[in-house]
Amino acid sequence: MIEIKGVWKYFEGKEVLRGINLKIEDGMTTVVLGPSGQGKTVLLKNIIGLYKPERGEIIADGISLNGLKKRELFELRKKFAFIFQGSALFDFLTVDENIALYLRMHTKMSKEEIEKKVKNVLKVVGMEGTEQLYPEELSGGMKKRVAIARAVVFSPKYILYDEPTTGLDRENARVVNALINRLKREYGVTSIVVTHDIDCMETVADRVVLLKEGRIIFMGKKEEVKESHLDYLYEMEEGK
Ligand SMILES: Nc1ncnc2c1ncn2[C@@H]1O[C@H](COP(=O)(O)OP(=O)(O)OP(=O)(O)O)[C@@H](O)[C@H]1O
Ligand SMILES: [Mg+2]
Repeated sequence: MIEIKGVWKYFEGKEVLRGINLKIEDGMTTVVLGPSGQGKTVLLKNIIGLYKPERGEIIADGISLNGLKKRELFELRKKFAFIFQGSALFDFLTVDENIALYLRMHTKMSKEEIEKKVKNVLKVVGMEGTEQLYPEELSGGMKKRVAIARAVVFSPKYILYDEPTTGLDRENARVVNALINRLKREYGVTSIVVTHDIDCMETVADRVVLLKEGRIIFMGKKEEVKESHLDYLYEMEEGK
């Protein structure tokens, strides 16, 4: 479980997160919904310790991120995968090299073991046979799936997705949403999905959190959010 307790984050005096309290339950997908500029990415970066809150704390599996030494934070991060808003693949590496990079750097796995593992995760994301391609040869949806493969290759407990469907057409968005659900179902992954895509929220959410100007204005089931905050959702869809 991840506990976010009274988290405030400022940038140059501007309050971006204003007292966020949230519990991320294991084995569930929590969707954080909100228009552009509301602090969604900043929240994710606080959760993995890329940013430090000015006030409050993040507790992951009972360990507070406040005051962790670099090495301890690095250890804790092994439980987390972060799928960035862009796919953040290395353009100069092939698909298999992109996925194998972390394994080569941080494990003692043999070349053969890594090759097998890479093949296996590519199968999970439905991208068999693309090992030798470069990112520029892939569509946006395929890149996103490779980014997800690279994230699951080291079996994270938590996956944080930043706008996983933004910029994708309906079909690719559908594939990515199905993948998020599959990783939960088959591997028990706990996910936080940040998005302003209502379809994505409806497909993957077990729980919805609505963010507005750095505050949580709704927390509950996806069935309820449309009843209580339809205006804000419309505003969000138009603003994206
Ligand atoms: N490193 C930073 N330095 C200064 N300001 C920042 C920094 N990161 C984010 N901000 C500011 O914090 C606010 C929230 O940014 P954030 O990226 O979290 O928005 P978002 O909800 O993810 O939006 P989007 O949907 O466009 O990705 C913005 O006003 C942004 O300019
Ligand atoms: Mg963002």
